Amino acid sequence: MTKNQLFFISLFLVMFMVGAAWADDLQPIQLLSPQIDGGKPLMQVLQKRSTSREFSSDQLPDQVLSNLLWAAYGINRPESGKRTVPSASNCQEIDLYVSMASGLYLYDTKANRLEPILNEDIRSLAGKQPFVKTAPVNLIMVADYSRMGKYSTEKKEAYSNADAGFIGQNVYLFCASEGLATVFRASIDQLALAKAMKLREDQKILYSQTVGYGIKGRVMGFQKSVNHMDLQEFRPGIKSMAEFGEKLVMACMEIGPEKEDTGHQHPFDQCGIVLEGKIEMFIGDVRCILEAMDTYFIPSGMIHGWKTFDVPARILDVSAK
Ligand SMILES: Cc1cc2nc3c(=O)[nH]c(=O)nc-3n(C[C@H](O)[C@H](O)[C@H](O)COP(=O)(O)O)c2cc1C
Repeated sequence: MTKNQLFFISLFLVMFMVGAAWADDLQPIQLLSPQIDGGKPLMQVLQKRSTSREFSSDQLPDQVLSNLLWAAYGINRPESGKRTVPSASNCQEIDLYVSMASGLYLYDTKANRLEPILNEDIRSLAGKQPFVKTAPVNLIMVADYSRMGKYSTEKKEAYSNADAGFIGQNVYLFCASEGLATVFRASIDQLALAKAMKLREDQKILYSQTVGYGIKGRVMGFQKSVNHMDLQEFRPGIKSMAEFGEKLVMACMEIGPEKEDTGHQHPFDQCGIVLEGKIEMFIGDVRCILEAMDTYFIPSGMIHGWKTFDVPARILDVSAK
């Protein structure tokens, strides 16, 4: 083997190893199963839908991220593979990219997974406005015109813009329901972003949408009485008012009669106090009926659940994030 051949083989091996490391570095994120039975009533959500441009840097909890993506672009009819949004001739030409501090991902709705695309925080390229680079999530809607074969260029552009608009509105409605802040944005340096995302010629960035918690939602202050908090229905039969801090969520909840959570777990501690009514809780194998002024503490990772009786239970719940 000549010196030259040896050099090129070594170069190839080094490039291959660097490339492999780059791809390996960013792992796919398997999303939690979306919760598709929650949310506020539609008319209340429509009343709350609005654009916000103030975001805290707080991360979205894993469950919220999964629910958001499903609402935006999930499959709602598995038998046909059709989605929560319509698309012209069901081309489903929009790809939904998710830009977060950890990197850039592609939402694979069938696998309910975020596929790694770039091991780089490119949020600053996802828009020209200052909040874009610090908000936790920027969704990027990219049309893949190769999936719209039969249409003229003009129609590809018109239809894909409409299709992206539906995604944007779903995100707005989900955010209104969950108390999240969001803004649908056209103000993007498309060229710079497409280059960073390594898009093909026939892939076109249409819009981006920032999602996060609003700054105004952050609590600093006092609530005079838990009995007078303005609770809003967030799941059928459950009303709540939650305050989201950097590390803690405090929620006052009223759970209607005859409701049940048969069990779930999460990687953070949770505790609380029953203010009024009666609730049966279990933590691991231990089961207990709690009444006013009784407390509970649920260590992270423990399976727990609850059940109400014939009267509502009002509780003050605190969990870490
Ligand atoms: C196609 C489109 C592009 C938009 N682009 C931006 C943008 O680049 N930056 C921004 O801050 N808001 C953007 N918006 C949000 C609008 O400014 C906002 O919807 C409008 O002011 C009305 O406010 P509302 O959503 O609270 O009703 C855009 C909205 C649409 C529909």
